[in-house]
Amino acid sequence: IPVEPFDLVIFGGTGDLARRKILPGLFRRFLSGQMPEDSRIIGAARSDIDSAGYRVMIKEAIAEFGGEEKSETKAIAKFLDRLEYVPVDARGEGGWSELAALVRSDVIRAFYFSVGPGLFGDLAERLHSYKIADRDSRIVVEKPFGRDLASAQELNETLAEHFKEDQIYRIDHYLGKETVQNLMAVRFGNVLFEPLWNNHYVDHIQITVAETVDVGGRGAYYDKSGAMRDMVQNHLMQLLCLIAMEPPSQFGADAVRDEKLKVIRALEPVEPHHIVRGQYEAGEDSKSYREHAENPRSFTESFIAMKCHISNWRWAGVPFYMRTGKAMSERVSEITVVFKDLGHSIFEEDDKRHRNILSIRLQPNEGMDLQVTIKEPGPGGMRLIDVPLDMTFAEALGDEAEDVPDAYERLIMDVIRGNQTLFMRGDEVEAAWKWTDPIIQGWEARNDVPKTYEPGSSGPEDAMLLIHRDGRKWREIK
Ligand code: BG6
Repeated sequence: IPVEPFDLVIFGGTGDLARRKILPGLFRRFLSGQMPEDSRIIGAARSDIDSAGYRVMIKEAIAEFGGEEKSETKAIAKFLDRLEYVPVDARGEGGWSELAALVRSDVIRAFYFSVGPGLFGDLAERLHSYKIADRDSRIVVEKPFGRDLASAQELNETLAEHFKEDQIYRIDHYLGKETVQNLMAVRFGNVLFEPLWNNHYVDHIQITVAETVDVGGRGAYYDKSGAMRDMVQNHLMQLLCLIAMEPPSQFGADAVRDEKLKVIRALEPVEPHHIVRGQYEAGEDSKSYREHAENPRSFTESFIAMKCHISNWRWAGVPFYMRTGKAMSERVSEITVVFKDLGHSIFEEDDKRHRNILSIRLQPNEGMDLQVTIKEPGPGGMRLIDVPLDMTFAEALGDEAEDVPDAYERLIMDVIRGNQTLFMRGDEVEAAWKWTDPIIQGWEARNDVPKTYEPGSSGPEDAMLLIHRDGRKWREIK
């Protein structure tokens, strides 16, 4: 379904995110017919190029990062026609009148701040003073949204000077992933799961976001951030909210976000011995974290594993184990709900432990499987085995699964539609920092040194102990 015609201005339009994700994504939406012909994308950045130069740059970006669609040469030419570029000085006055003249007032206006948070205030102020944005315009902001509660509050206040909350779209691209939304469909669209989704039936929940990539060239940014700020405060926290929240009364932006906020507020402070921080060592032909960070004394974590608790009736006593890291053995993002053991088995011949396990894979091979127990085929008596009820989306949905938009494309289209459900509200971001701040401050106060781990492994040994001590084990990363 096409969206309404729009003008989308991308500040930081020549940057990495714009070239890798935003523009190739918009091109795919253009190909699918979702982007109306009379819509325009306006790149704005410091580089002194013109629209023709910008089109060449974006053509190259689509060729490099666009996937299969890059071969659609005719369509690329049409798409590039929709592109304009204005050199703009975010901190000065240069280019703003030109931008004001270009942006139309009779279409939806959206402004993507694909720049560091230090520029948010300047951009918001000038969009307002040059009358480029009005009460119906939308702004999109990227993470990191602050580096602690105080800076996030400051950013929220700065944006609030010129924009209302319903105009601000804070992106967490994990919320745009297909399976993340499917998690809500599974929980709230089936009668089967919700009655079991609580501490009477769930033993524990695991959330794993493992990456094979290391910090590479991002060392300078990453060393000031670490896995806690880069992944846990936002992406893992959002996954935790969706898995743990109460059913909202409707699938609307505020109803969903109210419920997520309650989860974050109900998170208990984490005991220091329930957290393991890790840093990868050098491999045979790969650099260590400290070499990437160019900081031989860095105490920043590239891996984290933790055990958390949510203090409410539904989840009291159920541990949530979360882990994420760089330079790990496989790229896997997965949420696993491990149900409790049967209280009593009627099958004498069977002495194994059987459990139902629901695992929801975000990437790769998006899908779900539910481990169920059945009789082992054959004459061996009532012996039981565990088999997966597999629902890999690519298999179950065939061709339809191929046209699934990537997270950024979906979220940008949601901005144009004015749907904030999959974006973080200001109070949610602040609550998340409120929970992570004391943890980070504790490490700083104690000069906490991360444990080392081998690249290509599943993290430091202590991360295994964290869960083994409770008589449980991590899902294998595969
Ligand atoms: C980003 C982090 O937000 O998410 C990166 O800054 C991380 O460090 C990335 O690699 C992971 O995203 P995805 O979609 O590849 O799982």
